[in-house]
Amino acid sequence: MDNNFIISELKEKLSPRRYEHTLGVMHTAEKLARHYNADVDKCVTAAVLHDCAKDMENNKMIEICNNNGMEIDEFYSYTPDLLHSLAGTIVAKNIYGIHDEEILDSIKYHTTGRWNMSLTEQIVFIADFIEPGRTMPGVEEIRDMAFNGLDEALFVVVDRTIKHVIFKRALLHPDTIHCRNWILTKLIKRGI
Ligand SMILES: [Fe+2]
Ligand SMILES: [Fe+2]
Repeated sequence: MDNNFIISELKEKLSPRRYEHTLGVMHTAEKLARHYNADVDKCVTAAVLHDCAKDMENNKMIEICNNNGMEIDEFYSYTPDLLHSLAGTIVAKNIYGIHDEEILDSIKYHTTGRWNMSLTEQIVFIADFIEPGRTMPGVEEIRDMAFNGLDEALFVVVDRTIKHVIFKRALLHPDTIHCRNWILTKLIKRGI
């Protein structure tokens, strides 16, 4: 499905703030994809759809997952913030006709990360953190870092995410720990 059509649909379905964030992630993912010779179309589609379910009620997201065989593990049930990644994957497939596994996985893991992320997954994960609407302290430095080494940037973003989860006294999903261990192992192997 054409990205412009998806964007026009999301403009109706998302809050203005979420829609602006989505456009910010899309533009950032496109720049990163060009910079790292990734598949630009996949990165843009995944970025456009990454938060497509975020403004749904929790009950609706749970219903969508249950009706489509998407397993909600105990960490997701204790952390409703994460549910939109699972529901978004189903919405991308069923409503927008996306069947590319790399795009669907980029939506599914955009909040937790995971071990052995694809280039598209890494780009969407980082773009979500550094898009122009983000204003947290230190984000400028990570924006620059993202164009000088994707693995280094992912490591910093995952560390920041973990610290934020701990600060909020929220459950830390095992996939996020696996993501940190995976990227740190990669950096250590490269002598960084
Ligand atoms: Fe999200
Ligand atoms: Fe997002």
